Amino acid sequence: MYPTSRPRRLRRNPALRRLVSETSVEPRHLVLPMFVREGLSEPAPIASMPGVVQHTRESLKKAAVDAVEAGVGGLMLFGVPAEHDASGSGATDPEGILNVALRDLSAELGDDTVLMADLCLDEFTDHGHCGVLDEDGNVDNDRTLQVYGEMAVVQAESGAHVVSPSGMMDGQVGVIRDSLDATGHADTSILAYSAKYASAFYGPFREAVDSQLQGDRKTYQQDPGNGREALREADLDLAEGADMVMVKPAMAYLDVLRDIAGVADVPVATYQVSGEYSMIEAAVANGWLERQRTVLEALTAMRRAGADTVLTYYAAEAARWLQEARA
Ligand code: PBG
Repeated sequence: MYPTSRPRRLRRNPALRRLVSETSVEPRHLVLPMFVREGLSEPAPIASMPGVVQHTRESLKKAAVDAVEAGVGGLMLFGVPAEHDASGSGATDPEGILNVALRDLSAELGDDTVLMADLCLDEFTDHGHCGVLDEDGNVDNDRTLQVYGEMAVVQAESGAHVVSPSGMMDGQVGVIRDSLDATGHADTSILAYSAKYASAFYGPFREAVDSQLQGDRKTYQQDPGNGREALREADLDLAEGADMVMVKPAMAYLDVLRDIAGVADVPVATYQVSGEYSMIEAAVANGWLERQRTVLEALTAMRRAGADTVLTYYAAEAARWLQEARA
């Protein structure tokens, strides 16, 4: 006659719903990815990512301070150099844009904010690959590792608290750890992009960093159908000394995130990538989705799946919404 179970009892008003809510998103959980471009005099909008810009050195500082005031957990910096070359030399040059911008932010924000740096060559190479190429045009894993090792040291010396290898080269975490330790940077952490898929959802990012890439990254990034392999990648990174691991993209890979969060004994991050951002913005612009609700639901789902930290282009804005909701 009557249902024996009535889950609706705990949903009947906001106070009960708040009491039994399992998952929260707080400003400190969110990390803001930011782009800074060399030689720019005004911030340059990224057409495929409405609301996101390539910053000048000055506008970067201001936006970083705003994000910190909103309470974000950290900033992840990407550099866009004026010139690209075969070896991506701007990445290891202390005067390269990413390293200069790290010093700017470090001076502006000090140790109160977690400064992270993307550690990859694709923004700096004229062929757009994440590593250097051999004579046959293939990405040379082990020569790339040497460059990553140097890049890590320059980033640490420029003020990065966390370096974040995103190139999916075999052995990258171990080499980076060794070169940091050998140069007096034992305290610099490594956030490893452990499970990074060869994803169509990075489309708008290519515009954001003026990518030169022809072809794809399938010889180093993972096949979207492979879940077990993600656990293996995470195991290797943990064994090599990763302080945190990441799954990327986020929304289409929540199962992978869940699996890795279930076994990793370090904090786990996920990255709501450019295409995830642009899809929401496009649907909102058409009046098809409610912006704030959609964004917070997506971020909540990532937290529910096991993310301690979410990298998202919404970080500063969402942090402000969350602060207002609390006030
Ligand atoms: C590589 C890198 C990429 C992204 C972050 N780091 C691009 C790629 O692997 O093709 C994508 C981020 C996004 O799409 O928002 N340096």
